[in-house]
Amino acid sequence: MGAVQIIDESGLAPDLEASIRRMLVVCFPKDAAFFSRSRAWHGSAPSFSAVVVDGERVIAHAGVVERRVAAGGVPLGVAGVQNVAVLPELRGTGLCRQVLGLAMDEALRRGLDCGLLFCEPKSVPLYARCGWLELPDRPVVRVDSDGQEKPLVEGNLAMWLPLAKQSFPAGTVHLRGNDW
Ligand SMILES: CC(C)(COP(=O)(O)OP(=O)(O)OC[C@H]1O[C@@H](n2cnc3c(N)ncnc32)[C@H](O)[C@@H]1OP(=O)(O)O)[C@@H](O)C(=O)NCCC(=O)NCCS
Repeated sequence: MGAVQIIDESGLAPDLEASIRRMLVVCFPKDAAFFSRSRAWHGSAPSFSAVVVDGERVIAHAGVVERRVAAGGVPLGVAGVQNVAVLPELRGTGLCRQVLGLAMDEALRRGLDCGLLFCEPKSVPLYARCGWLELPDRPVVRVDSDGQEKPLVEGNLAMWLPLAKQSFPAGTVHLRGNDW
């Protein structure tokens, strides 16, 4: 098994791209049809990814969307974490912690203010163990594919991780695009 590596989207080889999608198909069976052709969840493409490769397989993955959002009208450069996954037989061995950690190191190196992700309530304890913080009772506005402003998908919660900025500005978070 290799170490975690950061791959910029501009340098992502087609066979590695296909391997990432293959593991996402396994890890998100409900969305297999989508991941069999794309990784750009809700049209939001990653600008870099953290992966662990074992032979031909990608065994752990986190994608990062770079986006200039606004919180209470204050611009914020965020590292939007998406498609976090570890192959089922390798879960519980710290691989998720490793890919998230290196992805956020890279985000800080790129000068981003904070990490931002959306997840179901059942995933909150996992991200909290990895240092992420909840953004409770916070309206989040996304722009869907028709250009309509919408709230987050029902049931999803926002979490953030301090990077260059140590506090998250108060007020409504406007994603200036769709969620990820
Ligand atoms: C979620 C997922 C990526 C976790 O991968 P993993 O490699 O098993 O996670 P790790 O072993 O790195 O765990 C990281 C930390 O979270 C903790 N943790 C993991 N799952 C947890 C859970 N369900 N509840 C609470 N804590 C959890 C671990 O104990 C570890 O903390 P520790 O190092 O302090 O002990 C994996 O289960 C998966 O691919 N699931 C399917 C896809 C998915 O749901 N992705 C998340 C979408 S938001």
